[in-house]
Amino acid sequence: METSSVSKLLMVLLTALLVGSELIHCSVTYDKKAIIINGQRRILISGSIHYPRSTPDMWEDLIRKAKHGGLDVIDTYVFWNVHEPSPGNYNFEGRYDLVRFIKTVQKVGLYAHLRIGPYVCAEWNFGGFPVWLKDVPGISFRTDNGPFKAAMQGFTQKIVQMMKNKKLFQSQGGPIILSQIENEYGPESRALGGAGHAYINWAAKMAVELGTGVPWVMCKEDDAPDPVINTCNGFYCDTFSPNKPYKPTLWTESWSGWFTEFGGPIHQRPVQDLAFAVARFIQKGGSYVNYYMYHGGTNFGRSAGGPFITTSYDYDAPIDEYGLIRQPKYDHLKDLHRAIKRCQHALVSADPTVTSLGTYQQAHVFSSGAGKCAAFLANYHPKSAARVTFNNRKYHLPPWSISILPDCRTAVFNTAKVRVQTSQFHMLPTSSKFSSWETYEEDLSSLAESSKAFSAVGLLEQINVTKDRTDYLWYITSVDISLSESFLRGGHRPTISVQSAGHAVHVFVNGQFSGSAFGTREERSCTFNGPVNLHAGTNKIALLSVAVGLPNVGHHFETWKTGIVGPVFLHGLDRGNKDLTSQKWSYQIGLKGEAMNLVSSNGVSSVDWVRGSLAAQGQQSLKWHKAYFNAPEGNEPLALDLGSMGKGQVWINGQSIGRYWMAYAKGDCNSCPYSGTFRPGKCQLGCGQPTQRWYHVPRSWLKSTQNLLVIFEELGGNPWKISLVRRTVHTPAATKEVKELEQD
Ligand code: GAL
Repeated sequence: METSSVSKLLMVLLTALLVGSELIHCSVTYDKKAIIINGQRRILISGSIHYPRSTPDMWEDLIRKAKHGGLDVIDTYVFWNVHEPSPGNYNFEGRYDLVRFIKTVQKVGLYAHLRIGPYVCAEWNFGGFPVWLKDVPGISFRTDNGPFKAAMQGFTQKIVQMMKNKKLFQSQGGPIILSQIENEYGPESRALGGAGHAYINWAAKMAVELGTGVPWVMCKEDDAPDPVINTCNGFYCDTFSPNKPYKPTLWTESWSGWFTEFGGPIHQRPVQDLAFAVARFIQKGGSYVNYYMYHGGTNFGRSAGGPFITTSYDYDAPIDEYGLIRQPKYDHLKDLHRAIKRCQHALVSADPTVTSLGTYQQAHVFSSGAGKCAAFLANYHPKSAARVTFNNRKYHLPPWSISILPDCRTAVFNTAKVRVQTSQFHMLPTSSKFSSWETYEEDLSSLAESSKAFSAVGLLEQINVTKDRTDYLWYITSVDISLSESFLRGGHRPTISVQSAGHAVHVFVNGQFSGSAFGTREERSCTFNGPVNLHAGTNKIALLSVAVGLPNVGHHFETWKTGIVGPVFLHGLDRGNKDLTSQKWSYQIGLKGEAMNLVSSNGVSSVDWVRGSLAAQGQQSLKWHKAYFNAPEGNEPLALDLGSMGKGQVWINGQSIGRYWMAYAKGDCNSCPYSGTFRPGKCQLGCGQPTQRWYHVPRSWLKSTQNLLVIFEELGGNPWKISLVRRTVHTPAATKEVKELEQD
């Protein structure tokens, strides 16, 4: 070969290498085994941390803890309704600073999975949709509907562009390696048939055309069109396979625990079972696992969905609501991740060979050509341990467990053998004392007289009226009662029945409280039935309807009703019953105290507060309470103990801590057995206690002195017993016995 042709060839090779390395430097692709980052198949461990569920000053610590726990990826949804509170008005500040969050992930050295949705479910108000979307003419959510698709595309494009501008996709050198479009569309798709199919094809095409340079996924959507990867969500995913043989097996939601609802118990998931589920998925050939949630956090403000999702979104996650490490969950999973990573080379190089070791026992062996061998020995029996022989060696396998052998010889980890003790969390007193409480009674005398009040014939759906700018809507009407009707009939007082589509209602007659009714998450609607004091002449009936978070899941939940839908009846009058449903009603949106902005230091002086405990207690009615306090020393997380309160909302320095409710947990509690298949309900705590007594107060929301605490209380709770507590955690060192057990 001539010198010139040799040098030409070299040039070509060099260019190819350079171009190649350029491509290799910043690329994310996939094949049937795994996500491929910069040319390498990877086993990736991920965890969900939702940025608005903590404060920016907590983010770095949470992400560092996640990294220390053996995670490679942080997964977050994008929450449309906080970013676009009204059409075209965007908010990416503070807790909503998505770019800062993703940059923090990058700074800590992890990857990100951006689940744009924009439908996210997530126990988040309205599943993440802005409520104004309901009012777009001709709209129908999550189907083949022009106005919906246009809005969804607009927001998705906006987020992708924002990430691109900051070079946050891995294809640009950033941390984002995956993105999700839609969320668990499978069940919807099946219900909608052709329209669902057309919509999901459109969504995939729309997303792919945005050219992010990283793969898109759709979770729980078997029909995800190429090149979008369909992924699994659930407590177990070992029976899941992607819809094409050339797609990797990914698990986008491995549920680490479960969420809570007011009036329900606390759910826990034993870490042994979680580790077992993850190991079972990996041994089957899975290569990406995301814990939903790794840190659940807090539903501040009115962000909780449901209805009735609690303000706490702790989720029994490895990092607790306050950012503290929860043992043994955190370390046991960390050990699991380390063991899995030791097998990485074999796992991504080969498909498993499965052999039986007994009726309930199996070996999954991954042998790569390069002499690497990793094995997973499983015992699926829920109750009995087993002794198995593998490669001429004996292994003890506890019930419902998997041992991991990164060299096909030594079991370095077993999912059921926990080396770590259980964390003990305590809520301890702080030095902070509240100044004397002052009270302002919500003014019912001038209801419906404000300039914003209006009247209509009949009962109106609540969210159509409030646009969800407040939880509260007053329905007010009057009834004329004759002198004879005002007498007790046979010693019985007349009664009122009020039917509400949800979520709670407080009934006032002539300014006097008559009682309340509440729905539940299973049954949102509720009916109030109770006696009323009527007098001769005009009687004023005022019904305060209260929303407790808009639904986040369910077929066309945007059409579900909230508020008093009727009928509303007076019973036991002289002439029998009186139907009030279709008469004239007046409406007042929100509370007077909200209109006056009593929650902030500017608004707080607009009314005369009454000092003293008598004012705070007294007869049950709707009350605002305020007090001041200084921040306690130290850096332990803080919470308000609201055990003495009823139901309402609480603010500190104008920032909403969230809704509170001392609804007592109903249901069967048990001692959380570790045996066989887990499901929520199997492992429940807190029955007979308020579901949520403590409410997270982010340190960064406090000044050193004179913090303003404002509470709106619906049920006559006593603020004088409120205290500010600090959360501490103590994890005893593993005992000798535990260590010995380990050596087995
Ligand atoms: C999933 C959903 C998540 C979350 C989870 C329960 O079905 O995708 O967003 O709602 O359930 O916590």
